[in-house]
Amino acid sequence: TPQHLSDFPALRAAVAAWRGAGERVALVPTMGALHEGHLHLVAEAKRLAPRVVVSIFVNPTQFGPNEDYARYPRDVAADLAVLSGAGADAAWTPDVATMYPAGFATRIDVAGLTDGLCGPLRPGHFSGVATVVTKLLNQVRPDVALFGEKDFQQLQVIRQVVADLDMAVAIHGVPTIREADGLALSSRNRYLSVEERRRAPRLHAVLADIAARTRDGAPVAGPVAEGMAVLGEAGFTVQYLAVCDARTLIPVERVAGPARVLAAAILGRTRLIDNVPV
Ligand code: PAJ
Repeated sequence: TPQHLSDFPALRAAVAAWRGAGERVALVPTMGALHEGHLHLVAEAKRLAPRVVVSIFVNPTQFGPNEDYARYPRDVAADLAVLSGAGADAAWTPDVATMYPAGFATRIDVAGLTDGLCGPLRPGHFSGVATVVTKLLNQVRPDVALFGEKDFQQLQVIRQVVADLDMAVAIHGVPTIREADGLALSSRNRYLSVEERRRAPRLHAVLADIAARTRDGAPVAGPVAEGMAVLGEAGFTVQYLAVCDARTLIPVERVAGPARVLAAAILGRTRLIDNVPV
């Protein structure tokens, strides 16, 4: 069973004991509602370091006013139970007052990478993510931190912050874990009705199709337009669907180097995001 750490003295004592024994530490930041995707990050972390901390914190500053902060699934007891079988050494579960005490006034903003895709659709989101991840990295001071490619723009934003602020941590990206039908695992999938869950894998199918058809450098416009139409017919409201440079996330007209097909679409009351490499 992982140690359950919920205040700074407990966290510092645990990490200091490991450090004293010369052990490397990995951090897996999460918002809880843990699923196999998260547990895969923990398994990867365990490969990279003998000690693994999983943080569980539903970060209010990365949710917009009309987003799902209030209804976001929270069940720390269930999360601790699944973590005990997964190889985590500790769960770090600060509360909101510990993270954001009265007078908190600092925010980290990343330019460029947040100009497109989810950036304009979720004002303040990446600033909230960048700030809370910086705090988590400063609190735990891991040697390595792991993030999923599922949230590809988030992963790139975090890489940028760590590089720009000279943070001494390795950022390790982990490929997306999917259901057998292609749907990317997500804590938000539990919002889907049975009917919506049946249609949801279409998102990944469209992304995979676009990747296959643009790999050779053919224009992306046609496959993207067709993908939009297919998703529309399947009942999705597409927020964006684009082929982008994998590093800058700037849309490309043709693939000429590492690229990514990324999409966000709403199905019923659930916002789904996904992406695949080209
Ligand atoms: P959360 O959505 O809980 O995700 C935690 C980590 O799990 C992220 O790095 C995410 O990319 C990864 N992840 C989620 N689903 C995955 C899947 N199907 N396959 C692989 N990895 C997956 O992302 C956040 O929390 C927050 O923004 C956080 C970084 C914790 C900051 O609050």
